[in-house]
Amino acid sequence: MTVRINPSILSADFANIERELTRIDNADFVHVDVMDNHFVPNLTFGLQMVSRIKATSPVPLDVHLMISDQDRWAPGYAELGAESVTLHVEATSDPVGTAARIRAIGSRVGIALKPGTPFATIEDIAHHFDQILVMTVEPGFGGQAFMKDQMATVRDVAAFRSKRGTDWWIQVDGGVDPTTIEFAAEAGADTFVAGSAVYGTDNPAFAIENLRKIARDHSHHEEPHV
Ligand code: DX5
Ligand code: ZN
Repeated sequence: MTVRINPSILSADFANIERELTRIDNADFVHVDVMDNHFVPNLTFGLQMVSRIKATSPVPLDVHLMISDQDRWAPGYAELGAESVTLHVEATSDPVGTAARIRAIGSRVGIALKPGTPFATIEDIAHHFDQILVMTVEPGFGGQAFMKDQMATVRDVAAFRSKRGTDWWIQVDGGVDPTTIEFAAEAGADTFVAGSAVYGTDNPAFAIENLRKIARDHSHHEEPHV
């Protein structure tokens, strides 16, 4: 199974974004947490800043929208060139329509679940998305503890994926480090966001490779489809 490591620049030095992006050029994507101080109690960056990050980043962008009124704002992130845009189901009134707009622009589209939101909420619409993000902290801040009980939701998503034969990426975000990544990989996640576990070290590129190796060692090796 392909394993992806997406460092979150929420834990990077915002005054040196260009340098911080070059330190993670071995990542699969850079995870960009967009927060509006409304959907979550924290504020980061919007379209203009993310557009500059896109122009500077050596790797594709994985935008995680933690803002209200996502139907209005999300397509703009696809338009600026973000390769993946993830919506929170709790902040959209038209997830299917907005997903279609993002895909029409040419980006992948994800749907995110806060810890209190069960997979059943999106089961009927999940096939409109390329990625399911299971939050392993309450969204808003880096450096929080990994919620291991969220592995039940990851297992639900993984079971549904193998039953339906879809090719979703299953992403986990929050508290992922060299210890907790094992639980997420074993539960069936393949795409791992890590902020403090990458940028909190002296050598982010090494931290990425270390996480990748541990995740691979704990991933399921699926039988090829016949
Ligand atoms: C939290 C963000 C995460 C955060 C992860 O709301 O969505 O992406 O940056 O940071 P760590 O890995 O430190 O928990
Ligand atoms: Zn995130």
